[in-house]
Amino acid sequence: MTMREKIEEAAARYPDQRSAIMPALLIAQEEHGHLPGPVLEEVADILGVERIWVYELATFYTLFHTEPVGMFHLQLCNNVSCMLCGSEDLLGHLETVLGIRKGDTTPDGLFTLSTVECLGACEMAPVMQVGDDYHAHLDVMRINALLDRLRAIAGAASVERASARVPWE
Ligand code: FES
Repeated sequence: MTMREKIEEAAARYPDQRSAIMPALLIAQEEHGHLPGPVLEEVADILGVERIWVYELATFYTLFHTEPVGMFHLQLCNNVSCMLCGSEDLLGHLETVLGIRKGDTTPDGLFTLSTVECLGACEMAPVMQVGDDYHAHLDVMRINALLDRLRAIAGAASVERASARVPWE
């Protein structure tokens, strides 16, 4: 199924096409990895809505990425509960061990580091979202262990890709 077909199928569930922008953006991001301008325009054209409406949503919500992100997008909450539980120190630690600043991606393309507003899991502060998963009650040791696990996943994925190649490739 093409991206257009998936978006049209999702949009058919909504009486107002403007309401279908969020699911359409999720489909487009799944397809392209991020949402550059031409993709946003394509989404608007498929839905027959104003392009500005699509731009507004894509740039407002942190789950949408208008720029490319690394294999793992580390989204550390910096709202009140998490900040009181040490998220600022964890941000500094992440910047140090990854060698990047907030908003950047590591040169190997593995990690993008962002801060976000409340993730709605204040009782588990400090919290960081990586992909669809939440990592809670974080401290330096848990962050280090998490980064090791993510690097291992990336390593396994690259071995899998390499072994899946046909011999003459
Ligand atoms: S303040 Fe961090 S999850 Fe709510």
